[in-house]
Amino acid sequence: MMFVRPATFFLALILTVSPMAGLPLLAEEVEFSDISGDPDNPRRHLRVENPADLTPKDAEAIYAELLAGMAAGYGLNEAAAASDYSDWPRYNTAPYRSATHGQRFINNYANATAQAYGLFEDAGVLPVGSILAKDSFTVTSDGIVQPGPLFLMEKMSAGFSYVTGDWRYSMIMPDGSLFGETRGDNDERVDYCIGCHLAASVQGFDHIFLVPEAFRPVAP
Ligand code: HEC
Repeated sequence: MMFVRPATFFLALILTVSPMAGLPLLAEEVEFSDISGDPDNPRRHLRVENPADLTPKDAEAIYAELLAGMAAGYGLNEAAAASDYSDWPRYNTAPYRSATHGQRFINNYANATAQAYGLFEDAGVLPVGSILAKDSFTVTSDGIVQPGPLFLMEKMSAGFSYVTGDWRYSMIMPDGSLFGETRGDNDERVDYCIGCHLAASVQGFDHIFLVPEAFRPVAP
């Protein structure tokens, strides 16, 4: 039986950002100690001296500390990808700030089916079963670090949705609750993903925007 901690300030924060109170996966069940430390002596954030100058190395160090706790939180969601993604290949060398995903620091993972993602501009149309996962965390101006949502794109069978190129978008909150999913719960909440990612298809890509060049792994 999982040890359930009393609500900490950190948990309150998570619940504030999550509009999904009442889902079967309760935030109270999350073990946040990896992130928050001792609840009686909260250390729920790591401080960085100057977040505006966060180097890739610093971003990577913070991420290394956060990842296990973040993955455990997402993993409370029933989607297999939410539990598995952190074991997949990562296609960026360090977390980078994504203006299009809420100024969060993000990472790009792809499952084995989606390995062509690593070819970037030459990825072509990814096969059915491809899953792209982008986890995220925020670093506020005063250096507070918090986990953010997990952004997922899964390639469904032909005919799933013409406008999305058969991708299903979903967003999973740090406590594992589902914020919304294309053709699923709260479908309308992820419409804005489609609108933006369509621009990539206009450029000839499979609705994918790819990793910024500066953060791509160097080919062996
Ligand atoms: C305003 C535009 C915009 C919106 C809105 C947006 N994205 Fe993205 N997305 C991008 C860009 C640009 C990239 C590549 C660069 C980056 O990671 O910031 C990207 C990358 C991704 C990736 C990695 C695969 C790829 O395209 O290379 C995933 C997964 C993803 N987004 C999911 C989502 C989901 C899910 C939503 C909605 C909840 C969403 N995105 C909303 C612009 C957007």
